[in-house]
Amino acid sequence: MVGLGPRRQPSRKGSMADVPKDLLREIRHLEELFTIDTAKLKAITEHFVSELTKGLTEEGGSIPMNPTWCMGFPNGYETGTFLALDMGGTNLRVCEVILPEEKGEFDIIQSKYRMPEELKTGTADELWGYIADCLQQFIEYHHEGEELDQLPLGFTFSYPASQDYIDHGVLQRWTKGFDIDGVEGKDVVPPFEEALKERGVPIRLTALINDTTGTLIASAYTDTEVKIGCIFGTGCNAAYMENCGSIPKLAHMNLPPDTLMAINCEWGAFDNEHVILPRTPYDVVIDKESPRPGQQAFEKMIAGLYLGELFRLVLVDLHDNKEIHIFEGQDIGTLRKPYSLDASFLSAVEDDPFENLSETHDLLASKLSLRATKPELELCRRLAELIGTRAARLSACGVAAICKKKDYKTAHVGADGSVFNKYPHFKARGAQALREIFDWEPKKGGKSARDPVEIVAAEDGSGVGAALIAALTIKRVQEGQLAGIKNADAMLKGTKAEKKPEEQV
Ligand code: BGC
Repeated sequence: MVGLGPRRQPSRKGSMADVPKDLLREIRHLEELFTIDTAKLKAITEHFVSELTKGLTEEGGSIPMNPTWCMGFPNGYETGTFLALDMGGTNLRVCEVILPEEKGEFDIIQSKYRMPEELKTGTADELWGYIADCLQQFIEYHHEGEELDQLPLGFTFSYPASQDYIDHGVLQRWTKGFDIDGVEGKDVVPPFEEALKERGVPIRLTALINDTTGTLIASAYTDTEVKIGCIFGTGCNAAYMENCGSIPKLAHMNLPPDTLMAINCEWGAFDNEHVILPRTPYDVVIDKESPRPGQQAFEKMIAGLYLGELFRLVLVDLHDNKEIHIFEGQDIGTLRKPYSLDASFLSAVEDDPFENLSETHDLLASKLSLRATKPELELCRRLAELIGTRAARLSACGVAAICKKKDYKTAHVGADGSVFNKYPHFKARGAQALREIFDWEPKKGGKSARDPVEIVAAEDGSGVGAALIAALTIKRVQEGQLAGIKNADAMLKGTKAEKKPEEQV
């Protein structure tokens, strides 16, 4: 079928021969709803380019295009010891990163702490208190009894934050299901620093960064072809380097036009005004029932948080409202629970290697207490493919749009996140969509031939990337380049970087 990209694993032919006509009709209808053909991919990409550009203007658009004050790529010779903190959706990760003299090398020690589910909808004080406690534990464990300088910290805060300074950021809105009162519209750094101070933790926040910016910088540290950093995980987003001369909303800063500035696109907000994305009725429900309706239109069609929910909504609809009434006569109580299926459920369905889909059958039985017929299993498999394929193809539109805007003829795109790393065929489907968008000739030279733009596995953005950005920032401050630095003295105070080189042992 045109535009669907690679379909099934070769190990399974997946015949629809024994699927009854009415069920087949529903499958065909779902295919129409969820399939994005080449022409549509191209149209979405074109619109995306203009929205990226609009986001950089004074008036702005729906894509925030946040300047990050991370100004330029690492050269591979950054050195020092840094802390990195990553506040993700499921875990909190604290790292100590050592950048040695050797080019492009790093050493890392890390600890993970679970992010209790209640924190995501609790109070701001609880959130910052918990994070500060984890940092304190980390330092006590790894530096017991040591007399410490203030340690510079790169804090990966993977939510949209507008930044007047690299070490400050105003949360524009929560995404990915977080809903903590009293944080949106405020600078997240002062209450975080306050919580550290209360506990006497010897940390100086050097840079507040987005996971995509960290991914861009960490990947560029080891691969100079990398021009874009992407996350395809619970949420989705990208960062790239823009020339300051092409950022009209920073004109008042009078920065040299050729100076580079990493832009955290926050592209999850693409098409919030619903002019181009082919939304299905299920996408509309996801949005309506989410804590922030009307926001993150693009993200809600792609990101891991929503893939399982889309699948669930379709199945419930086919049980309740359509003539075929799948799972007829069964109690679908568990399936009715919002967000009861996550992307790993879909991954498992797509990964089922058996012709009779027995793994899918067992999964439906164990997770949802449902007994599915063979045709119903075929439907589940096709639905998972459709949802997963749409996500990969839409993601490619964002990547293609940045390449078109920057006129990149070749590039590596460093990508990370659970969907990119674990969802079956995501990479191949994304690559196929890029070929369609750019009309690349079929590859000659078999498997080893490369596409001009390749999405590759990233380096650790929220660990190594955050440390590198802290290192680049300190270097910049020491050299007196103070754009986007609120208080240079305060940034270095009490850290090793404040001391003269001969004292820095
Ligand atoms: C957030 C971004 C983040 C992305 C990937 C989105 O929900 O708004 O800041 O980069 O998820 O983690």
